[in-house]
Amino acid sequence: NHPSLSYKRNELFINDYNLHSITKDLKTPFYLYSLEALQRNFENFKTEAQSNGLKNPLICYALKANSNIRLLKTLKSLGAGADIVSGGELKQALKAKIPAQKIVFSGVGKNESEIELALTCHPEGIYSFNVESIEELEMISSIAQRLNKTARVALRLNPQVNVKTHKHISTGGKSHKFGILKRDIEQALLKKKLWKSVSLVGLSMHIGSQLTCLKATRKALIELCRLCNSCNQLEFIDVGGGLGVPYNEDHPLSTLSEYMELIAKITQRELKEELRIVFEPGRYIAANCGVLITEVIRSKSSEENKFIIVDGGMNDFVRSSLYGAYHHVLPLKKRPSKLSTCHVVGPICETADSFASNRELPLLKAKDRICIADVGAYGSSMGSTYNMREKTREYIIDLKGEVRR
Ligand code: LLP
Repeated sequence: NHPSLSYKRNELFINDYNLHSITKDLKTPFYLYSLEALQRNFENFKTEAQSNGLKNPLICYALKANSNIRLLKTLKSLGAGADIVSGGELKQALKAKIPAQKIVFSGVGKNESEIELALTCHPEGIYSFNVESIEELEMISSIAQRLNKTARVALRLNPQVNVKTHKHISTGGKSHKFGILKRDIEQALLKKKLWKSVSLVGLSMHIGSQLTCLKATRKALIELCRLCNSCNQLEFIDVGGGLGVPYNEDHPLSTLSEYMELIAKITQRELKEELRIVFEPGRYIAANCGVLITEVIRSKSSEENKFIIVDGGMNDFVRSSLYGAYHHVLPLKKRPSKLSTCHVVGPICETADSFASNRELPLLKAKDRICIADVGAYGSSMGSTYNMREKTREYIIDLKGEVRR
């Protein structure tokens, strides 16, 4: 039941296009992104926010999920802003013509030259530095003073909540490096000297990624709203990203509409004054837009296992190796055959170089192509050239159905 992928007569389609026919001349492995799916996800997100009564929400797409320029230009045309975490991402967002007034800058390690760039890329600078420590606030303040600018900042609260997700991508707990504790925010608000060349325009949070349950979000958001009430003249509250997606339909997860309903309900109930809501979704916007297409080189069997060896590896796509993440493996053409239990592995010299373990698949032979599904987020952006392999190529299917670089 995938929103874009389906079989018709044993051939895999992405929306209305036969994946094999439209990509057979392209050399594997490669990513393919559907602009139609991207557009649909962004529009859904925006519509859902508006239909819950959120006025003028700012949706800052998290570039770290996928910073492909074509995707960014499409999102820009739909009104998206950007959540960036480096000078490189800032430059890429600006290259896609995303206005500086729609860019928020997250991350615990913003350095001097990145801060300078964010302050000077536009006469007014960026929309907000989402500040993760008092030390960072001091640094931003002194750089802004030197440049004769005023930096717009939001303080990121560490709400000390535990989130049910993979431990590598949980970010709102008290042992984590992210955000500022409530008592430190309260103290900072009192210190005049900190606020010389910075103007406090918001508060923010981000408690983790691939969130499948909203309990911690609710708790953290209430905390954040109450803190907002003790600050004067804020413009916005930034609720971060993190909404999970169904990689494997077997697991229940909170939906977009439940998520928006929660954000709207809590902010309307808790905030003394209405504030603009800023979102930083990455995965929700990009994950199901992308597939990785890879070709079978050969198969081999050991005493215990049957391996399908493909030409894509953990350098092209690392989520399965790094987090043990589940992604569907779908042959572009299904042979009518018995299913057998296989491991789908790549050519990299590491045991972790695997896309799927113990998967029931139909017979696959050399040169057959398969697709790894839902790799539009944290796929290419986490890719490397490990083992001196080439950087994975990326293509898009544009709105007319043309496949292009
Ligand atoms: N905002 C901040 C401050 C973040 O750190 C992140 C993600 C996001 C927004 C976007 O979160 P999303 O809506 O995509 O969940 N590589 C991992 C995910 C790392 C997420 C890091 N931060 C993965 O492949 O699952």
